Amino acid sequence: MKECAYPHLFSPITIGGKRLKNRVVASAQASPHGVTVGRDGYDNASEYQAQYMGLLARGGAAVVNTGHYGVDPRFQLGALRYAFNFYTDRLYNDQMPILNLMSDNVHAYGALASMELNHGGYICTPFEGNKVLGPMSKELPDGKIVVAMDKNEMERVAEYFANAAYIAKLTGFDMINIHGAHNWLLGQFLSPISNRREDEYGGSPENRAKFPLMVLKAIRDRIGKDMLISFRYSVAELVEGGATLEESLRSIKLLTEYADIIHCSAGKVDNVQSSNYLFPSQYTRHGVNAYLAAEVKKALPDVMVEMVGGVNDPAQAEKFVAEGSCDLVAMARSFIADNNWAKKAHDGMAEDIRPCIRCLRCLNESINFQGHRVCSVNPKRVLFQELPPSELPFVRKKVLVAGGGPAGLMAANELGLKGHEVVVLEKSEKLGGRLEFADHIAFKEDIKRYRDYLIGQVTKNKNVTVKLGVEATPETIKAEEPDALVVAVGAKNFYPPIPGAKLPSVLHCCDLYGREDEVGEHAVIIGGGMVGCEATIHLHSMGKAVDLVEMAPELMPENKMDYPDERDFTLYYVNHKLDLDQNKPMDLPVKENVHIHTSTRCVEIKENGVFVENSEGEKSFIEADTLILATGLKPDFDYLNSFEGLAHDVLFIGDCKKPGTICNTSSTGYYAALEI
Ligand SMILES: Cc1cc2nc3c(=O)[nH]c(=O)nc-3n(C[C@H](O)[C@H](O)[C@H](O)COP(=O)(O)O)c2cc1C
Ligand code: SF4
Repeated sequence: MKECAYPHLFSPITIGGKRLKNRVVASAQASPHGVTVGRDGYDNASEYQAQYMGLLARGGAAVVNTGHYGVDPRFQLGALRYAFNFYTDRLYNDQMPILNLMSDNVHAYGALASMELNHGGYICTPFEGNKVLGPMSKELPDGKIVVAMDKNEMERVAEYFANAAYIAKLTGFDMINIHGAHNWLLGQFLSPISNRREDEYGGSPENRAKFPLMVLKAIRDRIGKDMLISFRYSVAELVEGGATLEESLRSIKLLTEYADIIHCSAGKVDNVQSSNYLFPSQYTRHGVNAYLAAEVKKALPDVMVEMVGGVNDPAQAEKFVAEGSCDLVAMARSFIADNNWAKKAHDGMAEDIRPCIRCLRCLNESINFQGHRVCSVNPKRVLFQELPPSELPFVRKKVLVAGGGPAGLMAANELGLKGHEVVVLEKSEKLGGRLEFADHIAFKEDIKRYRDYLIGQVTKNKNVTVKLGVEATPETIKAEEPDALVVAVGAKNFYPPIPGAKLPSVLHCCDLYGREDEVGEHAVIIGGGMVGCEATIHLHSMGKAVDLVEMAPELMPENKMDYPDERDFTLYYVNHKLDLDQNKPMDLPVKENVHIHTSTRCVEIKENGVFVENSEGEKSFIEADTLILATGLKPDFDYLNSFEGLAHDVLFIGDCKKPGTICNTSSTGYYAALEI
């Protein structure tokens, strides 16, 4: 018998009479496709969500969660629309069959179906008027009035939770996941920041837990003992004055009277640095909340403890379970990046797991992708309903892929999986293209793993032949006689028309990585987009002083609309010291030797610095020993034109189509393979 490499992670466990086939939980993931907007403006559970939950169950998770569902028909969860509301008029006719489908799809693959129930409290959007609920009365900056909940209101909301849980029971769910974390209503009660009540529901951690306890009791009374309840908790809020581990342990002890599982998360959704623990980014270590789960387990050894946050390596998940830090490991983005995460880990295919790069793009609706929530590494996420197979017969073609960077590798692998004969020409002696930069940056470990994954997939793909050291030219391509040509040759460094931009001493940011020893004590970076900001973080973490010059009024202007979460995290670390082992983000010092010059144009580059001009027309000179251009890439159209007509189909992908991020390279590579 083949032994499992992760025996603890894949050992079954029985909790409250329910058998979990392993310790892997697909954590809650709300998404625009998880709901459809009904005629009356309320959100409906969607068949897509049912299909998606089935995919995650088939992908090996023992428990699959829905996204959060709002229990109170008076409010929409959060400011956005992605949460199904239990609106009773249509519930029985068109909603319950879909909820049934969700649990059926999950059960079909031997997993348990869990419904996450939530109430947004003061971060809800009311359907009528402008009043929202919370622990304390106050007026919010957007004009909403928060009404402090009295006991009657608490009982009413507890009843809504219980009703929703009962619907979950009727529709075949096995578990209720109560959202008590991240500053939603129950989290607002548990937090000493938002709950400063002076009655029996405020003050001590025990008092602050009384309303969440009321909710749990109402649910337990309604659903009985044959369903599991998991309680999601921000065990440390990691903001000044927020709930601490010590306090949380006191509340958790009470909650376990009704909850079978304590799900340990951290942070608050309304605070950038602490939400780095809720959605751990590339600037935080993997499994960042495991130490909190371990403390809960140590204090309450009989309680079932689940941890979440930035786990994508099965070896790390195995370690957490094996050392007793937790009983269950929950993951959201690892399952977005690869729906089959658990199955691959279980079946000895860990190296085939497509790793999440923790870029956080999946949290935002991309304007570039027509409002879809994308995944940088899993282009299928945008195709939320795949087309039926083509009616045309499959014709095996010889496809030449010019360029072995991320776009070319994605296309080559997908084309090979389809059955085409694929040849990759790569002019250098190794695959990976510009992703080589990840070898030199501490916080790019995930991208390194993704690059190695792509190389690994292509290398083991029997339909793909890689020819290293061969440049794609009209001659080398013609010699292969391809039916189709996929051009993935990347783009050139762009030098803006600034006097001095091509001085030999000027380093283009794309060439910086691996050449850091050429950087002196003080660098000027021209261009405050994502690349310039990341270079600032990188050089500062190496002890360099940096002046960052950006023409626009704000840094990373290109990400402001499309991927605000990715932008917020990066900007936080442009301004604060990077410490990948941090536990307390609020203790991170502000950077002292990073100077940001927005609304400032670079007018001339000299050997010893740059002349700049601000929006008032004031000129100044910034002295520096190293001058770095973070001004992006530009396709080389003359070079690209030389590929036209070399095969029946010629497709351009990746940076040579439009310079961009990994998200761009992987999606264009994937689509090229669909097209051929
Ligand atoms: C796209 C997306 C949607 C999410 N939606 C929810 C949600 O509806 N409810 C919830 O409690 N957490 C939600 N989360 C948080 C995750 O459940 C999880 O706690 C977080 O992503 C950290 O885990 P990870 O590092 O494994 O992704 C969401 C996360 C993502 C990435
Ligand atoms: S979009 Fe980025 S963070 Fe989200 S799952 Fe994909 S790779 Fe991970």
